Amino acid sequence: MRHWLLALLALSFPLWAADPEAGKAKTAVCAGCHGQDGIATNPAYPNLAGQNAQYLIAAMKAYKDGSRNNPIMKSMVEALSDADLENVAAYYQSLKK
Ligand code: HEC
Repeated sequence: MRHWLLALLALSFPLWAADPEAGKAKTAVCAGCHGQDGIATNPAYPNLAGQNAQYLIAAMKAYKDGSRNNPIMKSMVEALSDADLENVAAYYQSLKK
């Protein structure tokens, strides 16, 4: 197969390898605010259940690089790798709103 085609496939399906169960394991610390079931524990915090994974990944990367400025969330996602973020996003997307 041509290399450009492989690259195109990889770009088109970035969530192929996402693992919601592995993501869940990373969310113990998140549950205090975003809830065990992805429904926030307080109206000041956003619900994450059923949210689009693509959006969640973009939001978490933006906190990480500072383009979305929130010190709390930056500290929360700082230690998570890109693969972790994809897994966490797949987990929250899988939860019922
Ligand atoms: C201390 C409370 C707290 C904890 C713990 C926390 N968050 Fe958040 N989170 C927030 C708040 C507050 C916001 C909204 C910040 C803003 O205004 O951008 C937010 C926003 C988000 C958003 C963006 C939601 C949207 O609709 O744009 C995502 C995704 C997210 N958090 C994921 C996580 C993950 C994953 C963890 C655990 C690794 C986590 N959060 C831990 C308080 C928290």
